[in-house]
Amino acid sequence: MPTDHVTRRGMLQGGAALAAAPAILSQAQAAAPRTGKGAPMIPVELTVNGREVHVPVDPRTSLLDMLREHLHLTGTKKGCDHGQCGACTVIVEGRRINSCLTLAVMHDGERVTTIEGLGTPDRLHPMQKAFIVHDGYQCGYCTPGQICSAVAVLEEIEAGIPSHVTADLDDVAVNEAELRERMSGNICRCAAYPNIIAAMRDVAGEKQA
Ligand code: FES
Ligand code: FES
Repeated sequence: MPTDHVTRRGMLQGGAALAAAPAILSQAQAAAPRTGKGAPMIPVELTVNGREVHVPVDPRTSLLDMLREHLHLTGTKKGCDHGQCGACTVIVEGRRINSCLTLAVMHDGERVTTIEGLGTPDRLHPMQKAFIVHDGYQCGYCTPGQICSAVAVLEEIEAGIPSHVTADLDDVAVNEAELRERMSGNICRCAAYPNIIAAMRDVAGEKQA
């Protein structure tokens, strides 16, 4: 008889092992450190939009949840919560990141800029103005992340940081291909992409194609 033959006894043993799995899991969960009441909270100090904040957080709290739930900065949106849509993009130490994919405690002592810190209704950031002028949104849900990303992208290009589509490493320029490539992590379900690119080119001082 071949050794990999599936016997009735083997199947029953496998089934019994699966049936025991929840019990094993619950034992492991019981042994894990608990959160909630009495859980150790970790103090985090950050500079958010120019303001120093001290927040005690559960160490598993994402930066996104800390911004939204602890600091009530709800301009930063939660889309997928899995690093796939870019709605949660913020600028940390000058670099854009998906705030849903990183823990708040990993950014102790760092500077964070959210959409609320880029401009105010009275004093809009040039990128915010350009999004309005070029109709760079429809429902607006992705827009804070798009704007944070767009601001950081122009700074990346200005600093000469190449992307996957940069043809000449000595000449990193603002063009359609560069902008589309660099903004590809920011999804817009309303498909405002052409208008977002137009807004970025406007801010970069380029003539529209
Ligand atoms: Fe963070 Fe979608 S919510 S990438
Ligand atoms: Fe609606 Fe982008 S404006 S998802």
